[in-house]
Amino acid sequence: MGFIRSEALGETGYVVLDDHTTSIDPAEWRDLEYVGWRSSGITRFAPLTSYAGDVDCNGFWNHTPPRTDKDGVWVASQVAVAPTLQRCAQEPGAGVGRCRVIELQPNEYADAIYNLHQDDNNRLNEEGTGWVVRGFFNLSDDADSMLILRSDRFDPATEIRLPLRAGSRIIVDTQRFWHAVWHRGTAPRYALITSWTSGPELDAYIAANHGDPHPRTVDLDPEFVDAAQVEMHRRIEERRRAFEAQGIVMEPPVDMSV
Ligand SMILES: [Fe+2]
Repeated sequence: MGFIRSEALGETGYVVLDDHTTSIDPAEWRDLEYVGWRSSGITRFAPLTSYAGDVDCNGFWNHTPPRTDKDGVWVASQVAVAPTLQRCAQEPGAGVGRCRVIELQPNEYADAIYNLHQDDNNRLNEEGTGWVVRGFFNLSDDADSMLILRSDRFDPATEIRLPLRAGSRIIVDTQRFWHAVWHRGTAPRYALITSWTSGPELDAYIAANHGDPHPRTVDLDPEFVDAAQVEMHRRIEERRRAFEAQGIVMEPPVDMSV
């Protein structure tokens, strides 16, 4: 039967929309309640929705009863601080699963590609319903930073780099793409990340905002990319050995970098 998917994402798996032009008071993201995620201790998230409306970043499937990444419950204390961000997430009219603001500290390109991961957006999702994809809406102005997408985790020739100026909006099938952000700023990057259910509402939103499946990708020096590839493989091997020494089979990368 398959899932209901967005035709607009069918060609390349991602689209860049027109920039959002509404000015948003930075207090809407600065004054949110943030929590650390996993053990990174660096990247933090401020959930606007969660499984049950608590300030909680965990996947909906890690609760009882488990459910897929749909029907997020708005966190009252957070949306009171960020009503415009809530409106941005609701603007398409598509179902909203997890919705949160990420706070990402500056990093290096080699960090980003080491952190490349695929999201587990559709765990427990039922065929015949909408495929869950993610929207990224950059809040801070990080024009020199970029969202990195790779269809093959280890092949830089498959890499697409999308700049993250304030107001930039990108919708990606993040279960299909390996992805991470290279944040070149000196201050944290803030972005609104929303899990949306594919369907006619999301399609209409993409069309109305001129979703482009072939946006400009940022060029990087091939030698710079090659050096980072070497560093990525070195770090992966280093981690594998550290885990092996403890008798642990290394798990795939977790969702912690965008
Ligand atoms: Fe992700």
